Amino acid sequence: MTAGVQNRTALAARLREETRTVHEEAEQTPLMARLIKGDVDRDDLRGLTRQLVTVYEALEGASRALADEPRFAGVHAPELERLDALRADLAALSAEGEPEVPLLPAATAYAERIRDVADQPARLLAHRYTRYLGDLSGGQALGSIFGRALGLEAGQPGISFYQFQGIEKVKPYKDRYRELLDGAPLSDEESDAAVEEAIVAFRCNQALFEELESLKG
Ligand code: HEM
Repeated sequence: MTAGVQNRTALAARLREETRTVHEEAEQTPLMARLIKGDVDRDDLRGLTRQLVTVYEALEGASRALADEPRFAGVHAPELERLDALRADLAALSAEGEPEVPLLPAATAYAERIRDVADQPARLLAHRYTRYLGDLSGGQALGSIFGRALGLEAGQPGISFYQFQGIEKVKPYKDRYRELLDGAPLSDEESDAAVEEAIVAFRCNQALFEELESLKG
């Protein structure tokens, strides 16, 4: 049993390897492909930000509720919390009197999925992995691109979501985060569930991007 556990690939490496295909698919969605080229306007960012408010409300609400659970505690890091930044960005991107951005069904479904698994530490951990390590990776490049396109300085309202004030250097922080993932006291079944749920989380993002882009018409 112990040997079996030792021989298993560590969770962070499994998450990276086993989400490689869905990561590529998410990266190649028409919305991401367009945004990464800098073809982005205020409406695009406002629409995306509105959907992320609902997703992060679910993610961060569920995370706080599990903060004392030992299988989860290590990866629950308050400095990652993005909800206040998202709300500030949405306000900054909205003109006075402008109609609210509709909440899309894909965002509602994503938030519901998070709430459905909120009592399962391994699955919630996978949702956190997918969003926060993504925000600290490709999200950093996207933040700079949006800043250039909209004439905003890094961290300014509108794009403050992309800057983590409490994290000085992203690379060592991500390395440490992967160590925490590897150290989470999960059973083999729970590790399998985490990997499975990370794939679900990527698909939720993909569905959201597809719906957002289809509105662009
Ligand atoms: C244009 C879109 C995207 C680009 C250019 C991009 C780029 C990257 C790059 C270069 C890395 C590797 C960083 C490193 O090893 O330090 C990475 C990692 C990651 N990305 Fe993305 N990404 C994109 C979209 C997404 C999306 C939509 C998600 C999920 C919501 C996501 C989630 C992740 C995760 C979880 C990692 C960490 C992988 C690991 O080390 O385990 N990415 N991304």
